[in-house]
Amino acid sequence: MKKIGIMTTGGDCSGLNTVINRIVLGATNRGWYVVGIVDGTDGLCVRPANIIEMNNDTVPIERARLAGSFLHNGNACTMMNFELAVKNGRMKQFNKMLHDSLASLKLDALVLIGGNGSFSLSWKNRDIYSGLSLVCIPKTIDFDIPLTDRTIGFDTATNELVKYCDQLLLTARSHHRWFIVQTMGRECGRLALNAGVAIGADAIIIPEIKFSVDNLVKHIRGVDRDYGIIMVSEGITIRGSSGRPADMISRKLTAAGIMNRAAFPDYIQRAGDTVAGDRILAAKMATAALDAIENRETYVMTALRGNECVTVPLSEFYESGDIARDPNIPDLYTSNAYVEPDDPLLGVAAAMNIYIGDWK
Ligand code: F6P
Repeated sequence: MKKIGIMTTGGDCSGLNTVINRIVLGATNRGWYVVGIVDGTDGLCVRPANIIEMNNDTVPIERARLAGSFLHNGNACTMMNFELAVKNGRMKQFNKMLHDSLASLKLDALVLIGGNGSFSLSWKNRDIYSGLSLVCIPKTIDFDIPLTDRTIGFDTATNELVKYCDQLLLTARSHHRWFIVQTMGRECGRLALNAGVAIGADAIIIPEIKFSVDNLVKHIRGVDRDYGIIMVSEGITIRGSSGRPADMISRKLTAAGIMNRAAFPDYIQRAGDTVAGDRILAAKMATAALDAIENRETYVMTALRGNECVTVPLSEFYESGDIARDPNIPDLYTSNAYVEPDDPLLGVAAAMNIYIGDWK
């Protein structure tokens, strides 16, 4: 009988509980024993490791739709954790702790449900996982992981933004007012772009495409309504301006005489009930992860390619995309995916007369 572990790391998103539930269902079906590591890597920094036995009642089917992670995502009050190790230059000791904890659990495999920070760290410090199969499942509302057509949590976050903006449009119309909605997404504009197209925004400003305030103002003045939504990704900057991106744009529009308010959906984007697309993706990725374990693959991540879920080596993940230094974590390079200038959705947005910056 195989013994496998599950761990959720990094920021939470909706869909984590679905994927946990589906892994447990699939593993039990194969006759395997499953443990959950509580609090991500923090749970491996305590002695004994913080684990719970998982069965089909731990994350029951009726709760699998709920956001957050029943295994938690870290920030537990431990004597040692990733943040402390970074702060105190004790990464070697931290990595050894993880390795020793995992070795003591005698796992055949670990399913790490995480984002690009966790994946690149795992690949860089892969000795931690020697002796077991490491299979990663990509989750993030930012959709900034290359080599996969979707990440778990992205569809639900898009849907949360759509619900939020649908409501805002009603008050926008009443007050002849524009709303500048700031989305999450870090340096990747995918969430703002998809949600913006979905709600029929009049402008979508993302970090990947240069824009000018003058052209934005001109565009808004040309719209035959006096209300609407301007979607702004949190990663954008305006030279000579500071503060939150939606506030910066708001001030510029106010100066141009355009009535507006900035709006911040914030963590609601990570918190909606998991939509069908994410649940199906969770089931596909769980199955691909279990197949990979069965086939003794290691250092791989699951990836959606068209309708199918496959595995790709973590080395490929690490080498693909743009490698950007994360300013918060010395020596860590993350492999990000961005909206490319030839992305078909940009063309669709432009055809709908949405201002997407100075694109072509
Ligand atoms: O990576 C997911 C994400 O929600 C980003 O979109 C956002 O910038 C960040 O996490 C917020 O992080 P925290 O939970 O640390 O505030």
